[in-house]
Amino acid sequence: MEDWDFKTIIEPFRIKMVEDIPILTRAQREANLDRVGHNLFRLQSSEVTIDMLTDSGTGAMSGNQWGALANGDESYAGSRSFAQLHQVVRRLTGYQHIFPVHQGRAAERIMARTVLPPGKVVLNNTHFDTTRANIEQAGAIAEDIPVALAHDPATTDAFKGDMDLDALELALATRRDEIALVMLTMTNNAVGGQPVSMANIEAVSARCRAAGVPFFLDAARFAENAWFIHTREPGYADWSLHQIARRFFELSDGCTMSAKKDGIVHIGGLLCTNKDDWADLFRNELILGEGFITYGGLAGRDLAALAVGLDEALDPGYLRYRSRSIAYFAEGLESVGVPVVRPPGGHAVFVNAGALLPHIPPEQFPGQVFAAAMYLEGGVRSVEVGSLMFPEAGLELCRLAVPRRVYTQSHVDYVIEVAARVAAKAASLRGYQIVEAPPFLRHFLATLAPL
Ligand code: F0G
Repeated sequence: MEDWDFKTIIEPFRIKMVEDIPILTRAQREANLDRVGHNLFRLQSSEVTIDMLTDSGTGAMSGNQWGALANGDESYAGSRSFAQLHQVVRRLTGYQHIFPVHQGRAAERIMARTVLPPGKVVLNNTHFDTTRANIEQAGAIAEDIPVALAHDPATTDAFKGDMDLDALELALATRRDEIALVMLTMTNNAVGGQPVSMANIEAVSARCRAAGVPFFLDAARFAENAWFIHTREPGYADWSLHQIARRFFELSDGCTMSAKKDGIVHIGGLLCTNKDDWADLFRNELILGEGFITYGGLAGRDLAALAVGLDEALDPGYLRYRSRSIAYFAEGLESVGVPVVRPPGGHAVFVNAGALLPHIPPEQFPGQVFAAAMYLEGGVRSVEVGSLMFPEAGLELCRLAVPRRVYTQSHVDYVIEVAARVAAKAASLRGYQIVEAPPFLRHFLATLAPL
């Protein structure tokens, strides 16, 4: 791999099993949009040609994962598949206590309900929405302290996912007793899949240890983050990805992980810690809500597939292809006049719809206008990340997430072509108004109408 000097970074896999993609007519797409109130969450997958709604649980498992799945051990207690997963996670992370859960938010919920007392604060570079919701549900307070650069879509700094260390220091110096936990979300999904540097992880860890505050990682995209450290941060080019991952896990006291991303499985998650007292609380809550400690809401076969996927996600050939294909996607969009958040992140390209559609004010949801136009033009499904999802967003984005090992370069070329058509019509696109919306998490179910 190290002597790959071709311009073309090929998909480092060949296809063994295929799934048809629905191709619709424009008239069908138009009727579908009207039927679902211009909300792409309400579409059937049979109505979508290229689905970039999320990279979560949508990856393609390898032959080795499917093979492991067939050999899953479905024993209620002491499953061999759990032993396999435990061994892999221990080697990868070093954590003492390892609990499987059915997905990331289950880990968040167990943690929030056991160790976050009402009124206490959790600091994070940026909480993912389910993390925030689980913390708030427990009566605790979720505070985001990203670096200022995180909200500047134009700068190309390597680690825009970092935490603001001055803000952390100030909080620890002035209200240490309020702070129950510090977290780092890697990569930082909410600000464009931007990575966190090892230097930042080390600094956060040191400050938390000095202050005696527990420090956890939201490790949903740990492998992509490790790749960016390996390729962008001075001093890590000679480290293996496994060494880098082991290092950042060791700097923390535990992690929550949605394994539906870098575990490359369709369902699964992990809650891990080195804190014995917290592990006791997690264990009881796990049994109450998820299942016994050796399966935690998953089938044995899911544990077996995850044990394989975690190592596959750290394969340098795979990560080189993945990061390159996302950069290629971002460059292609820019070349046809579609502005994107820079630099390209690890799992998605975020289109700066506010900049593409300056005639549409935030209250008319430019991110949603772009997303709906991508569907109408070419059956591409994406998700608005702007004023509809987060009313105080500030940035009007549309996320095109890239499922792992699913789409080829020609699919990406097609999406770029669709985006070019949308960009050519940008000036004629009209804003939206909300017809009906639920009181919270409204983006999932709201219906809209063009103005
Ligand atoms: N943390 C991060 C950073 C996430 O991106 C997600 C999910 C979760 C936690 C929750 O994990 O879905 O397994 O319960 N992100 C998905 C997305 C849904 O589309 O970005 P989960």
